[in-house]
Amino acid sequence: MAKKLAGTAKFQIPGGQATPAPPVGTALGKFGINLGQFVQAFNDKTKDAGGMMIPVVVNVYNDRSFDFITKSPPAAVLLKKAANIAKGSGVPNKTKVGKVTNAQLEDMVDTSDEWIVQRTGIRQRHIAVEGETTADLGEKAARAALSNAGLNIEDIDLIILATSTPNNTFPATSVEIQHRLGMKHGAAFDMQAVCSGFVFALTTADQYIRTGFAKRIIVIGAETFSRILDWEDRTTCVLFGDGAGAVIVEASEQEGKPTDRGILTSHLRSDGAHRDKLYVDGGPSTTGTVGHLRMAGREVFRHAVAMITDVIEDAYQATGYTSQDLDWFVPHQANKRIIDASAKKLKIAPQKVVITVDHHGNTSAASIPMALCEALADGRIQPGNLILLEAMGGGFTWGATLLRW
Ligand code: COA
Repeated sequence: MAKKLAGTAKFQIPGGQATPAPPVGTALGKFGINLGQFVQAFNDKTKDAGGMMIPVVVNVYNDRSFDFITKSPPAAVLLKKAANIAKGSGVPNKTKVGKVTNAQLEDMVDTSDEWIVQRTGIRQRHIAVEGETTADLGEKAARAALSNAGLNIEDIDLIILATSTPNNTFPATSVEIQHRLGMKHGAAFDMQAVCSGFVFALTTADQYIRTGFAKRIIVIGAETFSRILDWEDRTTCVLFGDGAGAVIVEASEQEGKPTDRGILTSHLRSDGAHRDKLYVDGGPSTTGTVGHLRMAGREVFRHAVAMITDVIEDAYQATGYTSQDLDWFVPHQANKRIIDASAKKLKIAPQKVVITVDHHGNTSAASIPMALCEALADGRIQPGNLILLEAMGGGFTWGATLLRW
């Protein structure tokens, strides 16, 4: 016969160190259950918590038996479903359609397919057509993420858009996307950390969820870098592309352990001493123009691997995981040589590295969500997989996130 519930009690007590005194005695005493038995069972289950306060819900039944569930603060979980948009066509000032190959760039600047492939691994990129904006790409990515996740815009509390190529100086491009999605509640804002933008935005979303500020957040990376490239500068125009990707991050109760699902740890860094090595030579408060991307390529290359491996080692230290434990490494897609050198230094097996730079080029804040989505769509990433994200970009900014899908 089913047991009849006499009532429930909720309180917070120190993991592994609870006693029958208040608040346990006060909350459960009235049910006449054996307090010592409850305390013993609770302390056994939470003995690893080291006195950390743990919320607990106790169900007491008419026969004075009980069961209970312990909760930890919610951790962010990336929904399996996500979206990937790498769309657009046409080289600026030309009316071509489709992808832009290295051979097409040979017609524009003094370069060669061989030089580009050898130095960067890039074979093609996508360029937004005239009139196609960052908001257009970001909106498509967000819509696809919602549809894949089976969610409506009403289910979302917050939109965070990582971009360095907004539609306008203000308002934020994310509010344009919010409006187009028909979202009348919640909030939306842009984040700018250049190529590290998605890792910064994901980390921000995770923190908002852990504090209980939001339950579901769309995190978008969307860029139209083609609009800030100097198409006469062969040292930069061959490297970048346009695109967008989005994921939805949602609150989920987890144990607070490295075996949890969701974002396990994130580590962000920046150092403005390097601000002139990769920058845009215009802006609203300086020239009053949009400006063009400028880069000391060799300098960027020189710092990239050390910075990337530094934050990844922090992520390993925080969780106890190592490269051997990873299922997938999804790095920012700037340059295949940087990715290969980082993976080699960290002893990450090449077959665990997701590479999209060959067909997308460097799409800045969009590169990681686009790569993630590609590996999800083709079935490489499976639920429960341990995934390492990293990025480095202008500022310099850099960061790493370790998560379990
Ligand atoms: N096609 C042909 N030749 C090119 C060229 C191009 N697109 N771009 C530059 N060159 C030439 C240079 O003018 C130079 O010629 P020179 O020796 O006659 O002066 C030569 O190639 C070597 O240039 P250098 O800049 O030293 O090349 P590199 O080996 O450092 O490779 C990068 C250049 C940009 C590919 C490389 O520095 C790099 O990947 N840097 C990191 C860039 C990056 O990822 N940035 C984004 C971070 S988010």
